[in-house]
Amino acid sequence: MVEDESAPGIPNGWYAVAWSHELGPAEVKRLHYFSEELVLFRTRTGRARVLSAYCPHLGAHLAEGGRVAGETIRCPFHAWQYDGETGACVAIPYCERIPPKARVRKWETVERNGMIFVWHHDRQADPDWEVPEISQFSDPAWSEPRIFEIEVPVHVQDMAENNLDPVHFQVVHSSVDVPETELIFAPDGRFFSAVSHTEQETPWGTFKMELLRDTWCIGMSSVESRGIPETGLYMFSSTAPIDRYHAISRWALTATKNMVDTAGEEWFDALTKGLRDDMRIWTHKVHRSEPMLCEADKMLGDFRRWTKQFYSQDA
Ligand code: FES
Ligand SMILES: [Fe+2]
Repeated sequence: MVEDESAPGIPNGWYAVAWSHELGPAEVKRLHYFSEELVLFRTRTGRARVLSAYCPHLGAHLAEGGRVAGETIRCPFHAWQYDGETGACVAIPYCERIPPKARVRKWETVERNGMIFVWHHDRQADPDWEVPEISQFSDPAWSEPRIFEIEVPVHVQDMAENNLDPVHFQVVHSSVDVPETELIFAPDGRFFSAVSHTEQETPWGTFKMELLRDTWCIGMSSVESRGIPETGLYMFSSTAPIDRYHAISRWALTATKNMVDTAGEEWFDALTKGLRDDMRIWTHKVHRSEPMLCEADKMLGDFRRWTKQFYSQDA
């Protein structure tokens, strides 16, 4: 998207910043998300940790040569050690007294659904909800997830909006008919489902199908297709903001084993191809903070109102 001032800030929430399998024991990775330089590492006991990257001592980047030592990361410059859980400096090899303020910012981290999530909050408040555990990923009736990741030149909110934008499915993705969709908000308002119903002809007969799209916060969502007994298609995704103009989207797709080689494959293809159709629009669009909506755009209006809760007021 075009980098202008109208783009919103970075919404608060949980975001996947890596796949679990990418981070082996004692491995260290450099990350850039939320317009911040970060270091991701796996401690000796196997915990994934994320800290702000620049050492408070003389400013070395902890991911550029830093090494895991037990539960800490050791700075590559003078070997000060920072605890992964708290970010506090816990050892200076050539000095007994540790300056009490020697610490880097720690970022709350959780590993789930094969991904490593980091909590971002503008005012550094603690997480007030948990990353959902997706049962399909551990259910033996479902296939090993197929994973996919792509960098997108768009604000994380605009990417989420796109998933709900019914008209663009016809215009950009040439979908023949776009079913009526209903938005159902959870009582706390943070979570919502978009549900649509269709009738679909399949090799096994005609079925009443339900397409369910769940959204936990800006950037975390799932798509599920159900209706044929004993079968299902499921996609979980997390899109993490790199900055106000770029994001990385990670998807894990699974299907029941009885249809993974047929409908599953087609579905995986259709979802990933769909993204490529969006790219040209995304790359060149601006963000409209006050879009001119028409009467039929009710869902977009509802979505925009819902997004407000994820931004800190003074940010
Ligand atoms: S810059 Fe990190 S220990 Fe000196
Ligand atoms: Fe799209």
